[in-house]
Amino acid sequence: MNITIIGGGNLGTSIAAGLLESKYTSAKNITITRRNLQPLESLKKRGINVQCDNNTAVKKADIIILSVKPFQIKDVLEQTHFSKNQILVSTVTGIWLKDLKQWAGKDLRIFRVMPNTAIAVRKSITCIAHQNEDSDSVKVVSGLFDHLGSSVVIDEKLMDAATVVGACGIAFAMRYIRACIQGGIQIGFSAEQASQIVSQTVDGAASLLLKNHSHPEQEIDKVTTPRGCTISGLNEMEHHGFSSSVIKGVTASFDKIA
Ligand SMILES: NC(=O)c1ccc[n+]([C@@H]2O[C@H](COP(=O)([O-])OP(=O)(O)OC[C@H]3O[C@@H](n4cnc5c(N)ncnc54)[C@H](OP(=O)(O)O)[C@@H]3O)[C@@H](O)[C@H]2O)c1
Repeated sequence: MNITIIGGGNLGTSIAAGLLESKYTSAKNITITRRNLQPLESLKKRGINVQCDNNTAVKKADIIILSVKPFQIKDVLEQTHFSKNQILVSTVTGIWLKDLKQWAGKDLRIFRVMPNTAIAVRKSITCIAHQNEDSDSVKVVSGLFDHLGSSVVIDEKLMDAATVVGACGIAFAMRYIRACIQGGIQIGFSAEQASQIVSQTVDGAASLLLKNHSHPEQEIDKVTTPRGCTISGLNEMEHHGFSSSVIKGVTASFDKIA
């Protein structure tokens, strides 16, 4: 597979890093573009092709991943010449398939995806949407993102919600982790130890849900002894609006996209 990433910013370089780690395709089959090539130097050293000319970059590509800002996508699509056998995959928030088809050409196979930056370490959940694309193309796109974590095909109408819960979700989770580290330091750990303990604990909590297919409250029940310290801590967090503030944050992000 030859893969070209147009837009080597935060997400584009994370996808490239994940592809390198996954060995889904070799470095020489990956091309990444941006206008200022300097920040792509480290990827170039790892064998990835870097380019500032999108038309040259897409020539040999089987899959083209678009990762520019929403206000840049129309120009990029209108100025790049794609061929019919190529699959276009847009990560761009808030730009609908009908617009992508209009700007890129109706005959192309086009997908919208919403990954998150954990794609760099092959731990992204990637939501995928399309309009009646053939099952082989769906398999190719799902297979690609399954190599970089896991993927789920959703209705395009849910893409904004996927952005909030999946992509913004990385930042939401980081804030919980940071707060827990701060608490850990106050009760005796060094910042380094607290960070290691909290990060691994969050990873473990998520793995329990993913592997056991259980509900969070079931896992909570296993660690809350009556009159114990866990329930005391949890209830104190709830008195200060923990769940409520997370729900309000999620819906505020969603309102902002809308
Ligand atoms: N960051 C996330 O967590 C995340 C998650 C899901 C989806 N997304 C979506 O992914 C897209 C990229 O987000 P980001 O955070 O990676 O933004 P970003 O860091 O600003 O990256 C955008 C990149 O596009 C490059 N670019 C602009 N015009 C270009 C052109 N004509 N040809 C080639 N490259 C061009 C820019 O570099 P130059 O200025 O040097 O060209 C820049 O490096 C956005 O649409 C966002 O909605 C982001």
